Amino acid sequence: MTVTGGKPGRAALHLARAASFAPSPHNSQPWFFVEEGHDRAFEVHADAGRRMPLTDPGGREMVIACGAALFNVRTAVHQLGFRPVVDVLPELADQDFLARVGFGAHAAPTGDEESLARALPLRHTHRGPFGPEPVTEALLADLRDQARAEGAILQVLDVPEKAALLARLVDTAERSDRADLWRAVELAHRVGPTGVPVTACRAHPDLTLLAGRDYLGLSRRYTVPERRRGAGTGIVAVLCTPYDQRADWLIAGQALQRVLLCAAGHGVMAAFHTQPLERPDLREKVHRRVTVGRHPQMVLRLGRPPYVRSTLRRPLSQVLTHGPVPLRR
Ligand SMILES: Cc1cc2nc3c(=O)[nH]c(=O)nc-3n(C[C@H](O)[C@H](O)[C@H](O)COP(=O)(O)O)c2cc1C
Repeated sequence: MTVTGGKPGRAALHLARAASFAPSPHNSQPWFFVEEGHDRAFEVHADAGRRMPLTDPGGREMVIACGAALFNVRTAVHQLGFRPVVDVLPELADQDFLARVGFGAHAAPTGDEESLARALPLRHTHRGPFGPEPVTEALLADLRDQARAEGAILQVLDVPEKAALLARLVDTAERSDRADLWRAVELAHRVGPTGVPVTACRAHPDLTLLAGRDYLGLSRRYTVPERRRGAGTGIVAVLCTPYDQRADWLIAGQALQRVLLCAAGHGVMAAFHTQPLERPDLREKVHRRVTVGRHPQMVLRLGRPPYVRSTLRRPLSQVLTHGPVPLRR
C-alpha cells in the first residue's frame, strides 16, 4: 500500500497514533487508515500486503489486529469527547475496508473510557515468565466482562487438565513451526527494529507451561530442563467468539484490546501463544476439546511482568492518508 493525499487533520493524527498502538502478529502492523474529508470520518483498512502468508494464510490474525486498532480508535474518539459511530465492513465489494468511524454526539468520556485511553501507551506484549504477584479474581471477573461487552468470551482455563491439554497443542504446533524451514524464515524476518526487537524476545521460549515462539533460535542452542519449566506461567486463557466469520474476527480484535487495556491499567500484561490456531487441524482440536464449541481466536497468558519492553511502530506518514481513495499495490 502506498499512502497518498493531503495533510491530515489533528483529530485524524490523534486517532491514527492511538490505532497504531495495537498489537499485531509479530508487529507486522497490517493496516492503513484514511481520513475522510477534514476529520469527518476515519477509516480502518487491512493492508493485505503486510499479512504473513505462511502463518496467517486466511487473514484471520490480520483482521484481529485491525480489530484491536479499531478499538483504540473508538477509545481515542471518546477521549476527544465524542461518541464513536462505527460502521463495520461498510463496503461489500472491499472486504479489507473493515470499518468507518464517525464522530457522534458530544459526550464527556466516562471514568472507564478515560482509564482505557490512559492505558493505550502502557500496554506491551510480554514473553517469558511473569512475576509472583497474582492476578486477582476480581480483575479476572472484570476482564471477562470486558470481553463479553464486545460480544466475545474470555475463557480462563482454571482446570489444570484443560491448561495441560492446551499446552500440549501449543507444543505440537511450536515443534512443527521450528522444524519448518520456511515458517522459521518468515518468523526470523519479523525480528529487528521494525518488527519484534531482539530485546523483547530474549527469554527462552520453553520456560513457561505454554511454549513460546522461538524468534532467536534459542531452543537449538540449549534445552530447558523439565523441572525448570512452568514457573511464572500466570493465568492461561483463550479468547473465543460464538461464530467464525470476518466480522467475528473483528469482534475478537476489539474484545482482545479491551481486555488488554483494562489489564494494563492494573499492571497486568499478556503473553500470546497463538501457534495452534494457525494450523487448521490443531485449531479444530482446541475448538472441540478446550473451548468446546466456541471458536478460539487468541491463546494468552496474563500476569504481572518483571519488566516491560516497548516496540516501535511505523511512522504515521506511512499509515495515514487523507481521503478519498488510497493507492493500492
Ligand atoms: C493475532 C496476534 C497473534 C500474535 N501472536 C503472538 C505469538 O504467538 N507470540 C508472541 O510472542 N506474540 C504474539 N503476538 C504479539 C505481537 O508480537 C506484538 O503485538 C507485536 O510484536 C507488537 O508488540 P506490542 O504488543 O508489545 O506492542 C500476536 C499479536 C496478535 C495481534
